Amino acid sequence: MGGGIIGLSTAWRLSQRGMRVAVADARIMAGEASMAAAGMLAPGGEAHGDSPWARHTVEARATYPDFVSELKGASGLEIDFRECGALDVASNDEAWAELAARRAIQERLGIRVREVGEAEGRELIPLLRPGSFRALYYPDDAIVDPCQVNAALEVALKRVGVTLLIHEPVSAIEPDGDGYAIRVDDASGCRVLLRAGSVVLAAGAWSNEITLPGRVASHLPAPRRTMPVRGHLVEREGTPGALLPIAREDHLYVFQRNRGTLLTGSNEERVGFDRTPNPAVVEQILDRTDRLLPGLFAPRAENSSWVGFRPGIEGEGPELRRLPEERIWLAYGHYRNGILLAPRTAAYLAGEIAE
Ligand code: GLY
Repeated sequence: MGGGIIGLSTAWRLSQRGMRVAVADARIMAGEASMAAAGMLAPGGEAHGDSPWARHTVEARATYPDFVSELKGASGLEIDFRECGALDVASNDEAWAELAARRAIQERLGIRVREVGEAEGRELIPLLRPGSFRALYYPDDAIVDPCQVNAALEVALKRVGVTLLIHEPVSAIEPDGDGYAIRVDDASGCRVLLRAGSVVLAAGAWSNEITLPGRVASHLPAPRRTMPVRGHLVEREGTPGALLPIAREDHLYVFQRNRGTLLTGSNEERVGFDRTPNPAVVEQILDRTDRLLPGLFAPRAENSSWVGFRPGIEGEGPELRRLPEERIWLAYGHYRNGILLAPRTAAYLAGEIAE
């Protein structure tokens, strides 16, 4: 359930193990967070504490080149994947203290990071604003184009005969003999979409809207609650090669794809599923980008922006586990790291389900 990058990559791995798989989504495949995401594969920017999940992000980053090359082979499509590194800039003592504290934890996680002086920083990113700064360089942070990953997954799935069901708003997973009936509730009424022996619930921020079998409630812990955490991204066309590493400053990130597209983001807002972009937030992102990399996103009229709903979750790390005594696996709440963690999540689920 859920045709985002988690559902699609899991379906791919399951089909490789000889299982018959269908993916259902309320809208289109990869039409939500998986499409809206920037595609940073950046434990250096995202791992702030020592936790099993932070460690998974580091391992996931290490396996990404193999995932991309296997997927390119399976789909015949190009995927823009850049092992470009990232520069985290601090222009005052407080920001530097924060980076230094984070660095100490990150080094324990095995994340490679080193301090660079101003001269090297400007060599890495000549567009950096004038004035003094201190900076950390993360050589292993990378970026991928999530839309290309999703497109390649769709092609790979179609080639191996996985059924892709779109515009099917699944409302409930109900016990049915040895397996489950997947129920859809839409304008034409309530009906059984399909029957399945095993189910993966990977509907991102919408996962709690799908009713689980009533007997699940007798087993603790209860499935954790997910909630949308909205982010804005701003994009424009640029000259390829203008910005090589990711540039970061205090949760702002700016980077460039191979074909030249520049991206900057991103804030966090808890405003439910409100799809209307907030022009004030876009201006704020652009003001901050302009302070870091003057002129890169000018003139502003040429920029485009969009919002996405990260699958936020209560507690730390995604909900990734089998429900006791059921053949239902929860796989949601990847929050800021869904693109990075998808291949690893898929491999884990396929191993468990095909066992
Ligand atoms: N991983 C970056 C973001 O969620 O904005």
